[in-house]
Amino acid sequence: MAQLWGGRFTKETDRLVYAFNASIGFDRRLLLQDIEGSIVHAGMLGKQGIITEQEAEEITGGLVRILEDVESGKLTVDERYEDVHSFVEAVLTERIGEAGKKLHTGRSRNDQVALDMRLYTRVQVRETDILLRGLLEVLLGIMEENTETYMPGFTHLQKAQPLTLAHHMGAYFEMFRRDRLRMRDILERMNICPLGAGALAGTTYPLDREDTARQLGFDGPALNSMDAVSDRDYLLEFLSALSIVMMHLSRFSEEIIIWNSDEYRFIEIDDAYSTGSSIMPQKKNPDIAELVRGKTGRVYGDLMALLTVMKGLPLAYNKDMQEDKEAAFDAFDTVKDCLLLFTGMMATIKFRKERMAESAMRGFTNATDAADYLVGKGVPFREAHGIVGKLVLCCMEKNTSIDALPLSEMRKISDKFEEDIYDAVSLRACVDKRLTIGAPGREAMEKVIAVYREYLNEKEIKNE
Ligand code: ARG
Repeated sequence: MAQLWGGRFTKETDRLVYAFNASIGFDRRLLLQDIEGSIVHAGMLGKQGIITEQEAEEITGGLVRILEDVESGKLTVDERYEDVHSFVEAVLTERIGEAGKKLHTGRSRNDQVALDMRLYTRVQVRETDILLRGLLEVLLGIMEENTETYMPGFTHLQKAQPLTLAHHMGAYFEMFRRDRLRMRDILERMNICPLGAGALAGTTYPLDREDTARQLGFDGPALNSMDAVSDRDYLLEFLSALSIVMMHLSRFSEEIIIWNSDEYRFIEIDDAYSTGSSIMPQKKNPDIAELVRGKTGRVYGDLMALLTVMKGLPLAYNKDMQEDKEAAFDAFDTVKDCLLLFTGMMATIKFRKERMAESAMRGFTNATDAADYLVGKGVPFREAHGIVGKLVLCCMEKNTSIDALPLSEMRKISDKFEEDIYDAVSLRACVDKRLTIGAPGREAMEKVIAVYREYLNEKEIKNE
């Protein structure tokens, strides 16, 4: 047990208390950010004459070596230390002596951890954005190839009107595009540097907070030291945005699972992205989609956990806040895994285009268009609705679809039907007539695809 305090204490910390209090088991992943922050802090202390330039250099050199040694495996972040911050400071002092003890001048672990978490989260937001972009690329590829792949569109999970696979994928494109906007929005609001806030009330040293903020890639220093050490809004915003990403992935997964079922057979998931059953040889299960759907609950849980941790906290830092990390890390990792695997699954999925078109036909998705056809022949819509209802019934009795019913049968129901009905109710015609922007008609779809292509070519979140 190596701890950063002790002067005021006459007894050793109880072992269980120590273990309960420690966060090194999970905050060790902040090592890079901790060292990055400390290097900038030490440099600033040197420039400001708070420590000597020589000491600042020794500290920086020592910190760089710690990082190298951990990365090469020479040094392990071990559990004798309470948290990653104590580990770095203790090893530094062990290695470089007196100068190491000066690193913490004008700083508290409260602003230090606030900084580390913010730096770490900023990377995560960017990485999530890159993965979202990757998924959008795959979706757009599917769209470009499938503007004439007809399928039923559903309401109430019942076949409603025909559309195309491109159009269906486009709906998800919109969702994940909004997710990316949320990432950008979060980055903009969170990019404020807490370092220099001290424990809660700033420090008495002449720190150059602007310089620290700039060097760490922030837009400026946080303007209230109490808020700086106890603000976790950015994490909550990110976890909310991640929950929404998962909600989108989960809805998408649900469709994949349905489409993969024996009843639908709209798709075939690549062998590399599905698994079999230990007992039923015929099975090929959509595990990735099911797991993504399942893990959605976990990410919502992480958001709820942090919201609940924060709800009763008085200003400023409270140890409760240490609980932000496991929930946040779990959500970060889970969402990135889900995005990566889902993208891989979508990139290799096969669409059974004939099955999809047949399903659209068999499901009378062109019934609205048959009614519109009659309207074109002067029949009032309400009447046309009734006539087509009878037509559907007749098809059901004969186990056929509207486009395959002989004209003679149709004319028994209404003499307004003529030879041109077949052109009017073909899937292509039904879809292509829907040509207002946002609709599945090929011309409209192609315009939208061009907008999406341009968006993917240009709209990169700028990297540091
Ligand atoms: N491990 C702590 C955390 O994650 C670091 C901050 C400790 N500050 C304190 N006042 N005990 O929140």
